[in-house]
Amino acid sequence: MTKAVHVLGLLQISVAVVLAQNGWEVKYTTQSICAYTGSTVEISCTYTYPSGLTVTSTFWLSPDGVTDLTQDQAYSGRVTYTGGNTLRITDLRTSDSAVYRFRFITDQAGGKYTGQPGFILSVTDGPKNTRATLSPSGEIVEGSLVTLTCSSDANPPVDKYTWYKKKVTSPKASGQSYSIANIRSEDSGEYYCEAENKCGRFNSSSVFVDVHCEYNLLSALN
Ligand SMILES: *[C@@H]1O[C@H](CO)[C@@H](O)[C@H](O)[C@H]1NC(C)=O
Repeated sequence: MTKAVHVLGLLQISVAVVLAQNGWEVKYTTQSICAYTGSTVEISCTYTYPSGLTVTSTFWLSPDGVTDLTQDQAYSGRVTYTGGNTLRITDLRTSDSAVYRFRFITDQAGGKYTGQPGFILSVTDGPKNTRATLSPSGEIVEGSLVTLTCSSDANPPVDKYTWYKKKVTSPKASGQSYSIANIRSEDSGEYYCEAENKCGRFNSSSVFVDVHCEYNLLSALN
């Protein structure tokens, strides 16, 4: 079964089936989340239990497997439960990367249930040093070829690069390099790139492209 799950990628479905045994079940809205440090994550779940029982308490377990997350010092002031079973963790740290589980307790003796296998949170630093560079550097003359290159120390690696020009709403190009052949003075402006990986997106600071019109320079000298 494990092999079949792996091959078909049906992890979520098979998990739901396993957990539904005996009428006890916790279903998470997602099985894993990747987020940037400093950001906020929200994860919700639904749970079912045999009829006739009353739920007396619900909480999210600390990765230590015992403590209510709101009582865990490491999460002090950063955890809230909304609507009973939605977990919200703010100001994420890389040390928050862990498996989180929801637990509910009923009035039945031993009527305690923890939703396995939980959901996996991976907290990673944003793409550090996302930067745009211009080649050739120095004076750009109309009609020449200019290449902008985006680089980033992203982990996990960047899946997608997008180029923007300031004051222009739609993206100019996609891909790590953006070449402008036969550049015109209207192409002058500030360019920046966006690096995206599976955890989020990040914009670089901008690079100035200043296109000089050769003819005007010469006529100004005369
Ligand atoms: C980057 O800039 C573009 C264009 O202004 C914007 O649409 C996008 O949301 C920005 N990305 C981030 C991560 O701020």
